[in-house]
Amino acid sequence: MPPIVVTIDGPAGTGKSTVALLVAERLGFQFLNTGAMYRAVAWHCLQHAVNLQDAMSSTAVAANLSFHIVDHKMQVDGVDLSQEFRDDTISQAASVIAAHSEIRSILVERQRQLAEEMSLVSEGRDQGTIVFPNATKKFFLTARPEVRAQRRYDDLRGHSDVSYEQILKTQQERDLRDMTRSIAPLQPAPDAEVVDSSDLELDEVVNLLVQKVEQAQ
Ligand code: C5P
Repeated sequence: MPPIVVTIDGPAGTGKSTVALLVAERLGFQFLNTGAMYRAVAWHCLQHAVNLQDAMSSTAVAANLSFHIVDHKMQVDGVDLSQEFRDDTISQAASVIAAHSEIRSILVERQRQLAEEMSLVSEGRDQGTIVFPNATKKFFLTARPEVRAQRRYDDLRGHSDVSYEQILKTQQERDLRDMTRSIAPLQPAPDAEVVDSSDLELDEVVNLLVQKVEQAQ
């Protein structure tokens, strides 16, 4: 059977990554964390003092990185830096470089190559709309802004001293940037199933998605 793709898109802080990983494990697929790819490019730009607004220089950074999935984790140049990437500075920087079309082309091509090699639950902003228009099943995961900020705050507690108010503010800025950019803006694919997770427990969301994928197969 050819590899299958399930897409999960949505705004920041909906718990998409956690949901996508658990759904992937339940289905026996790999988890493709596309946000980690954009974060990796941003992290490498910051490490080398590359101006994030400079499309040409930041694209050169992206072009020189290698991306592989090893046991659900995104390895960039052979290293899993996902903990470093979670920082709020990296979140903001990722959404700045994600607006460069050249960077998107490089990462989208790599995402499609990975989908030729293995079945994926692919999570991001443009997976159902642009990258995998023929995905077997598409979800758009959302939640109320205050719920999303609280989840991110709980997630970062112990790793960062950023306040809930600060997270709510930067999350709104990032969502606005992601939704209004001219290329691959964040929006549900017309054939995506919208799931509001505000009042659902994690295992309820995972069970719902797994059930719907199984129905679609
Ligand atoms: O999902 P995550 O919060 O890790 O994504 C970080 C940023 O990367 C997003 O705010 C968005 O700007 C960008 N991104 C994107 N397309 C994707 C995944 C992430 O533009 N498929």
